[in-house]
Amino acid sequence: MINVAVLGYGTVGSGVVEVINTNNELINKRVGDTVKIKYVLDLRDFPGDVVENILVKDYDVIVNDPEVSIIAEAMGGIDFPYECAKKAIAAGKSYCTSNKELVAKHGPELIKLAKENNVNFLFEASVGGGIPVIRPINESLTPDDIVEVVGILNGTTNYILSKMAKEGSDFDTVLKRAQDLGYAERNPEADVEGYDACRKIAILSSLATGKYVNFEDIKTEGITKITDVDFKYANLLGLSVKLFGRFKKVDGKYFAMVSPVMIDKTHPLYSVEDVKNGILVRGNMVGDVMFYGSGAGKLPTASAVVSDIVEAARAIGRNINIIMSDEKLELSDISEFES
Ligand code: HSE
Repeated sequence: MINVAVLGYGTVGSGVVEVINTNNELINKRVGDTVKIKYVLDLRDFPGDVVENILVKDYDVIVNDPEVSIIAEAMGGIDFPYECAKKAIAAGKSYCTSNKELVAKHGPELIKLAKENNVNFLFEASVGGGIPVIRPINESLTPDDIVEVVGILNGTTNYILSKMAKEGSDFDTVLKRAQDLGYAERNPEADVEGYDACRKIAILSSLATGKYVNFEDIKTEGITKITDVDFKYANLLGLSVKLFGRFKKVDGKYFAMVSPVMIDKTHPLYSVEDVKNGILVRGNMVGDVMFYGSGAGKLPTASAVVSDIVEAARAIGRNINIIMSDEKLELSDISEFES
């Protein structure tokens, strides 16, 4: 029996419970053992439809329970999840998270800590929602020097840009729809100002290089300065407006940035619309590899968290080597960036 605790019963946390309950038989078969949700931690009194006898408010109950081997977190914020992750790993439990802020800020430290404790710190859902991209980079593209990553990494802004272009809807109305659909961050400034995409390209750049790319070093512009005039020109020229996160290695120099772009039909990410994300990874051996799928939303993101739970369950007693050291990678000035 693999006992799991879920931290946070919001959109993603409740999705994790739903995915495990719905596909229980399948998941058990794939793990080779029975996966059981022993606890849900949520500070609210009645957080939705959670079964009452597994609901706890005290994290120590979870972390001190030797029967719990995996903790899945979908809470958001940094300080509390960081404390939870450190305590979980020190107690010999694997920690799976969708929290990109946590990974972008403390990833290298938590990965190292997990290695020292022979458990795992996994974060598939932190980039690209339901799209498998972290594990493919860490485990499948291992022979390659990854020289470029270009991605539509934020579902909310892609949804807003798509609807504004197609329907001519105004920004605030579409943002409200994205929030109602559970795509947007609690503070949507993180989406529309590009901070969310910035953390995601920082995580991907760190994985690509094996070093630490600090999100604070990445020049970031969101979509708030885009106007009707931009859409009119884009339409006239047959272009599509997207928010790109980009990482590139050129002649030994590294560049990363987040900015709106206009792309034409020939670009592989042209048809990535609505809440979908698309990520193009270029390896020096494999060439171009594309990832596409739902970049936000309850079940897609929960599916990625559960994929980490399955991976952690399969790897009990073994650390999965994630290459992201705490050695900082210096980025070059983006004025030299060749687009
Ligand atoms: N707010 C994020 C997005 C959620 O819209 O992409 C998934 O990380």
